[in-house]
Amino acid sequence: MTENIQNLQADRPDIITTEVEAIHFYRKMDTEDTVAQMIAGKYVLVEEFYSNGLQVLNELRKNLLLKHKDKTFQGQRDYRAAYRKASHRLLLKVKDNKLIVKKSPDIGWLTLLYPEVSEFYVAFPDIQGMNSSWQWYEKGIEIKTLGITLKPYYSTYFPTRFDHLKLFDKWLKKYEGSKENAIEIGVGSGVLSFQLIQNGFKNIFATDTNKNAIIGVFEESKRLGYEKHMTLNHGDLFEDCDVKADLIVFNPPWLPAKHQLEEGIDKAMYYEEELFPRFFEQAKEHLAPDGKVVLLFSNLAEVVDDESIHPIIEELRNHKRFRKELHLRRDVRASSRRTKRRDARDTEKVELWVLAPKEV
Ligand SMILES: C[S@@+](CC[C@H](N)C(=O)[O-])C[C@H]1O[C@@H](n2cnc3c(N)ncnc32)[C@H](O)[C@@H]1O
Repeated sequence: MTENIQNLQADRPDIITTEVEAIHFYRKMDTEDTVAQMIAGKYVLVEEFYSNGLQVLNELRKNLLLKHKDKTFQGQRDYRAAYRKASHRLLLKVKDNKLIVKKSPDIGWLTLLYPEVSEFYVAFPDIQGMNSSWQWYEKGIEIKTLGITLKPYYSTYFPTRFDHLKLFDKWLKKYEGSKENAIEIGVGSGVLSFQLIQNGFKNIFATDTNKNAIIGVFEESKRLGYEKHMTLNHGDLFEDCDVKADLIVFNPPWLPAKHQLEEGIDKAMYYEEELFPRFFEQAKEHLAPDGKVVLLFSNLAEVVDDESIHPIIEELRNHKRFRKELHLRRDVRASSRRTKRRDARDTEKVELWVLAPKEV
């Protein structure tokens, strides 16, 4: 619950806090040889300039591409795994929570995510990830529909396209039911919960399996002044939720997983087979008698694979829990009207589904 958020430890890249035996890499050194040693298992520490690390990574890519010529899905996967493994042996030193090499980016996450330690080593690709995330955080994402700029927390999903928010806005403006209690499953960077608050909802119980999402939305709620409306819970679906809601909102992952999902941002994009049946079963229990379930979805999975099963249609077809009240669709490419090719099959759409409980 919100009270325990201070005890949540954000997910963050692993660091090394002991001394490490490593090859110290300077610009004039033999990059090919350094990379060969890195692939063989040695750590390499970037010295002098940040760009020296980029030089080593370029050489590593070249080296591995020569060995991984197979362009099949599996071949490319093997290449990525080999790159991931070796590149994580390329280290940068952090002192006073800053990178010590010259011309390196300033990354606030090095302070915010590691409050208990100031000196450590961190892998170069993890720094690249933190750097890009920090730039988004600093700049913010302007959400025109809400008139706010969101600051997405490290390793948290945030929207880069906004069609589903416009669709939700259109529906919310016409909604005439009770606005006492809403539940949002998978709060991410908080955008839908904030949209609910702006549209007059009083209490939002919001959950996410990603700890960083909960920490981030906690901070954003305070910054934006929405704190008193929000109760946050780190957990799976409706875990620890004893609310009966007027509205349950879920913008779930849009693609079926074909791989073992990792915690964190992976679960924002891909869903395991059981996610939707579990969601609908629990949603039924947490809905007030006149309540509604609103799902934001997309036909993306069908665009990629026309045999894919639509989990919401599947629910309506196979169970007697809910009936469809409304289904709105919006063309994702609505802004590019000049595009001549309008083949319906590869046109991506966002969808808004409103479901009401079926009387038994
Ligand atoms: C597509 S993102 C949507 C985020 C945000 N609501 C938005 O609209 O931008 C899906 C979110 O659901 C979360 N999620 C996935 N599985 C979940 C589960 N079983 N329980 C709670 N949250 C989950 C993910 O971590 C992610 O933050």
